Amino acid sequence: MGGTARYLAETGLHTVTGVDLTPEYVEVAGALTELVGLDGSVTFQQADVRDLPLRSASFDAAVLLHVGMNIDDKESAFSDVARVLVDGGVFAIYDIMGRRDAAFDFPVPWAASQAGSFLATADEYVEVLEATGFEVEHVVDRSTFARGFFSSLRRRTGPPPPLGLHLLMGDEAPMRYKNMVDAVESGTIAPMEIVATTRKRLS
Ligand SMILES: C[S@@+](CC[C@H](N)C(=O)[O-])C[C@H]1O[C@@H](n2cnc3c(N)ncnc32)[C@H](O)[C@@H]1O
Repeated sequence: MGGTARYLAETGLHTVTGVDLTPEYVEVAGALTELVGLDGSVTFQQADVRDLPLRSASFDAAVLLHVGMNIDDKESAFSDVARVLVDGGVFAIYDIMGRRDAAFDFPVPWAASQAGSFLATADEYVEVLEATGFEVEHVVDRSTFARGFFSSLRRRTGPPPPLGLHLLMGDEAPMRYKNMVDAVESGTIAPMEIVATTRKRLS
């Protein structure tokens, strides 16, 4: 729904193009952005990150936030991100990553069943980034931050806020969150931050 894109634009430093595979999300992202008056600097397009309809070397930075878990072919995705970035462009990833044999209960927020879940380990992300033209600057495990965030949610009282992901997930939302939180608490999966930059292309 474009929260990340609006957050980046709000710093005042960025013109942001958001892409998502799902047309309804693109539509809602555009409407919310207009509502808060950021439509001058943030636009959205329906697109597959593995085949971006964007000009080569036209972006200074790219952000992938909680999307990689739904992408089986990360090599195609990261290659196309590298293509649209300038030399030395920054690619920031914040995804749920797993251990090689991560076993946890479904549904989770990103998938109803194992068939729709493509978790990779941080080492696998690094391997694919390096193979697609990136140098990895840092890899940070954000589990401690996430556990603190989950416990602040548990302390919250009263009804859920009017806007939130529970609106998208419907009745299954509590179960999806519970399974994810349990898996983060047990260390089976972890929210990981990776920052990489594109290597200079040889012309
Ligand atoms: C948890 S949401 C990410 C939220 C988003 N980063 C934001 O800031 O609003 C995961 C999104 O990934 C999208 N997605 C899954 N596979 C994709 C692909 N191959 N290309 C583009 N988007 C994809 C889904 O449509 C879904 O909206």
